[in-house]
Amino acid sequence: MTKIIQSEEIEIGAKMLQDGQLVAFPTETVFGLGAIANNADAVKSVYSVKGRPSDNPLIVHIADPEDIFDYMIDDDSVRHHLIDDLTKAFWPGPLTLVVPVKPNTFPSVVTGGMDTVGIRLPDHATTRSLIRATGFPIVGPSANISGKPSPTQVAHVMHDFDGRIGGVVNAEPTRIGVESTVLDLTDPRGLVILRPGYITKSMLGAVVKNMPIYLGGTIANNAEEAPKAPGMKYIHYSPDQPVLAVSSEKLAQVLSELADQSIKVGLATSVQNVEKYKTLVESVVSLGPTIETATQQLFAVLRTFDEHKNIQQIVVELYPDTEKNGAYRNRLIKASSTVVE
Ligand code: TXA
Ligand code: MG
Repeated sequence: MTKIIQSEEIEIGAKMLQDGQLVAFPTETVFGLGAIANNADAVKSVYSVKGRPSDNPLIVHIADPEDIFDYMIDDDSVRHHLIDDLTKAFWPGPLTLVVPVKPNTFPSVVTGGMDTVGIRLPDHATTRSLIRATGFPIVGPSANISGKPSPTQVAHVMHDFDGRIGGVVNAEPTRIGVESTVLDLTDPRGLVILRPGYITKSMLGAVVKNMPIYLGGTIANNAEEAPKAPGMKYIHYSPDQPVLAVSSEKLAQVLSELADQSIKVGLATSVQNVEKYKTLVESVVSLGPTIETATQQLFAVLRTFDEHKNIQQIVVELYPDTEKNGAYRNRLIKASSTVVE
């Protein structure tokens, strides 16, 4: 049985991690599936329990900002100062930094055999206590079966892993709702955002003034080069039914067409639209009033419809292509079989 660990009994979770067991933990983004990062067998079991491809490296979670320098090759003063600036501005918080890994600090399963490592300091006090009590950083991919929506609540973690992991640290639903921004600090051309998240290019640009910042995909990549964030190439976030992402302008038209064909639709839309469209669909859930509430609820909404077996088609409102909407759009489009805008 998987133990629900209360925040005041964090030593139990730390002991499980030290023993090589898996413990899921909350962060501000999504729940992570934790294993102590110096135990190759424990880390391997993270891949097997999730069904995760082994070439997809894991993020290492630390409890104090300066610890990053213990695990990276710190031979470049420009990069050192850059890290100081970025961590002062954004840590604890949803920014993962990809840096050259110091040899022999982590088993190669952590980095998928790459010579870099992704490091992050989560904005969650209980989890930072868990890492300190464990005595070593913990790896933490999102605590979902590979390919399914990431977990934003304890119930999601239990749905995917009850009985298959040692424990889960109890906490409120996560605040942000999509995974951290992944930023590569190892490209000589500048900073590269490998995965969009809450921290946007403009937010980074306000702190880093003397270096170009690229969105991954916009910077030329040699065709033979391995993908920079290997995880981005896999199918993600797919619930049991197909997902259609539809812009606010096209929603009325698409929903009437589906209703004409008697297709049973589960709709997720902004609160203002719920009344307007509810007669056209089988089931409707609100994404709240803002992009922040929609982002926070996106994965939970995709999982909700998994429980409604009579629904044949999920439709989710796709907000306009602005920087602030970037992480929401990125995750929703990855979850969707078709995009209409
Ligand atoms: O918000 C988050 O980042 C969550 C919470 C639990 O911390 N974790 C998370 O981990 O999303 P995961 O494993 O689901 O995603 C890690 C992403 C993948 O796209 C992976 O390819 C990329 O980060 N990544 C990890 N290490 C990397 C490295 N050394 N170089 C390039 N990309 C890396
Ligand atoms: Mg994930």
